[in-house]
Amino acid sequence: MSFVTVSNVWQKYGDRSILERVNVTIEEGEFISIVGASGCGKSTFLRMLLAQERPYKGEISIDGGDTAKEPNRERGVVFQKYSVFPHLSVRENLIAAESFDTAFGRLSGAKRKAAEARADEMLERIGLNHVADQYPASLSGGMQQRLAIGQAMTAKPRILLLDEPFGALDPGTRLQMHDFLLELRDETNMTVFMVTHDLQEGFKLGDRVLVFDKPRWDPHDPGMYGATITYDFDARDGGIPFQLKEDADVSA
Ligand SMILES: Nc1ncnc2c1ncn2[C@@H]1O[C@H](COP(=O)(O)OP(=O)(O)OP(=O)(O)O)[C@@H](O)[C@H]1O
Ligand SMILES: [Mg+2]
Repeated sequence: MSFVTVSNVWQKYGDRSILERVNVTIEEGEFISIVGASGCGKSTFLRMLLAQERPYKGEISIDGGDTAKEPNRERGVVFQKYSVFPHLSVRENLIAAESFDTAFGRLSGAKRKAAEARADEMLERIGLNHVADQYPASLSGGMQQRLAIGQAMTAKPRILLLDEPFGALDPGTRLQMHDFLLELRDETNMTVFMVTHDLQEGFKLGDRVLVFDKPRWDPHDPGMYGATITYDFDARDGGIPFQLKEDADVSA
């Protein structure tokens, strides 16, 4: 059985259709890149996977469970920017990630000690131990995103959701982040969903590239129909299919 099963999922905001008839199955450990025009519902899809919002219709099953009603520690998330706490040091950010699900948001005694030990382990893994006591604002963009990924991973999620995680980084840093992410994933066998506007990045990192687009379109009423998955490319060989190079406008 598949690890993630999305069955006939629709989403609407008011009377605007955002997504329609989304069907896809994902195996555990797969890296799924998601591309598509701005506003077509990619982030909405991630929010539903994260259980931050419920589909209008349809089911999303993870590891055989019912559609989740609220986010849980199985799913970590990283956004393009600003997902770390600016008023906490790097190390405190990682410790804070552990306390999200405690009743008072604070850890005490033995639990705190264990959280600190795991934070230090994560600091090592994301290569930020030399800046453990600095605040995020003093870090480079790449370091901030490594921290955000470390934070999302602290709870050892089985699914990592990345929404344009490298969009704000310069090309060199971006390449370093690719290596970092691929290593991390090899170590953990996480299932990853990554939204990107960069097709090359999508094909390089992904095992599959899902293209979201509107299969039908009413020029008089653009909100009438939603987007769905129009292509599901096998990207294991890393290359961009020739026909996409020719009209590579899917991520415009
Ligand atoms: N909570 C909401 N209430 C109403 N409309 C929303 C809400 N969230 C998103 N939308 C609308 O739904 C559509 C899809 O938004 P979404 O953010 O999922 O697109 P996206 O594919 O991630 O776009 P981008 O590439 O620009 O990030 C947009 O038109 C957006 O304005
Ligand atoms: Mg988005």
